[in-house]
Amino acid sequence: MLIRLENITKEYENGGVITKVLKNISLQVKEGEFVAIMGPSGSGKSTLMHIIGFLDRPTGGTYFFNNENTDSFSDDDLARIRNERIGFVFQSFNLLPRTSVLDNVILPLTYSKQKNHIEKATEALKSVGLENRLSFLSNQISGGQKQRVAIARALVCDPKVIFADEPTGNLDSKSGATVMNILGRLNEEGRTVILVTHDRFVAEHARRIITIKDGMITGDEENKTQKKSELTEEGPEDSLSFGNLSRK
Ligand SMILES: Nc1ncnc2c1ncn2[C@@H]1O[C@H](COP(=O)(O)OP(=O)(O)OP(=O)(O)O)[C@@H](O)[C@H]1O
Ligand SMILES: [Mg+2]
Repeated sequence: MLIRLENITKEYENGGVITKVLKNISLQVKEGEFVAIMGPSGSGKSTLMHIIGFLDRPTGGTYFFNNENTDSFSDDDLARIRNERIGFVFQSFNLLPRTSVLDNVILPLTYSKQKNHIEKATEALKSVGLENRLSFLSNQISGGQKQRVAIARALVCDPKVIFADEPTGNLDSKSGATVMNILGRLNEEGRTVILVTHDRFVAEHARRIITIKDGMITGDEENKTQKKSELTEEGPEDSLSFGNLSRK
């Protein structure tokens, strides 16, 4: 089992007041799944994703990653797992400003043991259809393109798991569809994708939909009507490069 959470809790204490944000979350995710975590604003989706993605630690419960209890992992272990095994995509892109598209994607490689940084970053950008934007600065591209750079950055170290927190939240519907298609392809290639969204339409791209409310899981269902990735009706440049997305 790739991910196994047992009674995970997360509490915050502010001035003596304890807020329970996650309440006994137990769930399992197998390698290769495409899971959406859905729920209203404030329900704990991002908190849960940050714990599963090792950006934060739980207050209670046990988290097994690849059948290993993560309690004993040091901060260095967690940093290594984040770099080698996990890719993150956020609503607000989180690109480095005044930095080229290529350098944004090279960055995670500089923290890794990998070689051939320029080739790998170029390949990742090619897979999201941005090979003709390599030297543009991150503020010289559109929102949809920024999110594709962020996906290339998430992909460049060849992670097993991709976490995306509201990846389409700041995008128009067409760019959002492109991003969801790319995430669908990445899943078809065998990567595990865990998507956080409050949007049912976006969630329906996943094969499994987990609903959380007020820090508790209230639903966990197979999505039999999964929206399949398909070519979008973008300009020739986009559809051409989109067709190059590698399939293993
Ligand atoms: N540092 C903190 N101290 C106290 N409460 C916090 C802290 N961080 C988050 N929370 C609370 O945790 C709850 C869940 O937050 P979280 O960001 O996980 O929600 P979410 O489901 O991702 O919402 P959204 O859809 O708006 O992004 C919120 O009620 C929030 O106020
Ligand atoms: Mg959130």
